[in-house]
Amino acid sequence: MDTKTLTFAEKIAKAGDFLPINGTDYIEFYVGNAKQAAHFYKTAFGFQSLAYAGPETGVRDRSSYVLQQGKIRLVLTTALNSNHEISEHVKKHGDGVKILALWVDDAYDAYEQTTKRGGKSYMEPKTLTDENGEVRMSGIYTYGETVHMFIERKNYTGPFMPGYEKWESTYNPSDCGLLYIDHCVGNVGWNRMLPTVKWYEDVMGFVNILSFDDKQINTEYSALMSKVMSNGNGFSKFPINEPAEGKKKSQIEEYLDFYEGEGVQHIAVATKDIVKTVSELKARGIEFLSAPPEAYYEMIPERVGSIDEDLKKLQSLGILVDCDEEGYLLQIFTKPVEDRPTLFFEIIERHGAQSFGAGNFKALFESLEREQAKRGNL
Ligand code: FE2
Repeated sequence: MDTKTLTFAEKIAKAGDFLPINGTDYIEFYVGNAKQAAHFYKTAFGFQSLAYAGPETGVRDRSSYVLQQGKIRLVLTTALNSNHEISEHVKKHGDGVKILALWVDDAYDAYEQTTKRGGKSYMEPKTLTDENGEVRMSGIYTYGETVHMFIERKNYTGPFMPGYEKWESTYNPSDCGLLYIDHCVGNVGWNRMLPTVKWYEDVMGFVNILSFDDKQINTEYSALMSKVMSNGNGFSKFPINEPAEGKKKSQIEEYLDFYEGEGVQHIAVATKDIVKTVSELKARGIEFLSAPPEAYYEMIPERVGSIDEDLKKLQSLGILVDCDEEGYLLQIFTKPVEDRPTLFFEIIERHGAQSFGAGNFKALFESLEREQAKRGNL
């Protein structure tokens, strides 16, 4: 792999500096029933009620519930009538991620810099104000119908943004130790990975920090290709997947068929104690991909070296282990969180490693294919 000669820090140092990003601001889902989705993310994932907008706050056409855990903010939005862009989105894609919002220092400049480099406008810059100050925002389309919003909130002290009221709920399940968004992965169509990578380079100033081809990511049946794009401080990482030819249908192809287009495949959230987090999520009903076979865990001391965690405990929960030159990581993947086999979550705990678990791809994909086969889509 040609990218292996530089460290991750050296690679991201080559990124453009015209779009400073401080991290993920929020992720907004368009869903069929936001009230119930919010209940699910509170109950099953431990998110906390933060803010609400809807008819009670003067918004006539939609309801949005904002949830928070650590630095992660999720917005769950539904339309209140059928003749609505959100309803059309849900009809086509099912519940899914519409907006990956990035926290910037200057939303007007972010729009100017990206649109002049070819970014397609979703929302021209605008300023929202209320008694708590102002939020400035703009947005451009990325792959499929997915959007990157640029959010500037340095002059805002309210719970979320103008138009939202603090959401006081009497139902407040405890959190699950989720801290921040580590990365968000997009699935794109055949021959669409390279143009998407080039778009992140040209329009956003990102750099490609890791690449995997179909020779590295394959099982007996199917394959995929992946490239990881990062901004200049590493706070914003977007791996891009494309299906590859195999004996049977690739998991990426299954996603594209059921999402009816390109979109967000998984959201990886970081924890400091994956054993505790995953135990808690399982107790609350979150379903994870099945554990790899015994042999996988027997090989870990040789493949990864010594780790702080008890291997038996990791095995009992199905947590995967991988390493790179800079350390190791622990990770696990949920099953899709809606009926269409589309969006899922990854829980990740990093101990120095900056990579994405390539050593687990085979074990992971075999597990994914067992699920795909059960759905009759392999
Ligand atoms: Fe991931």
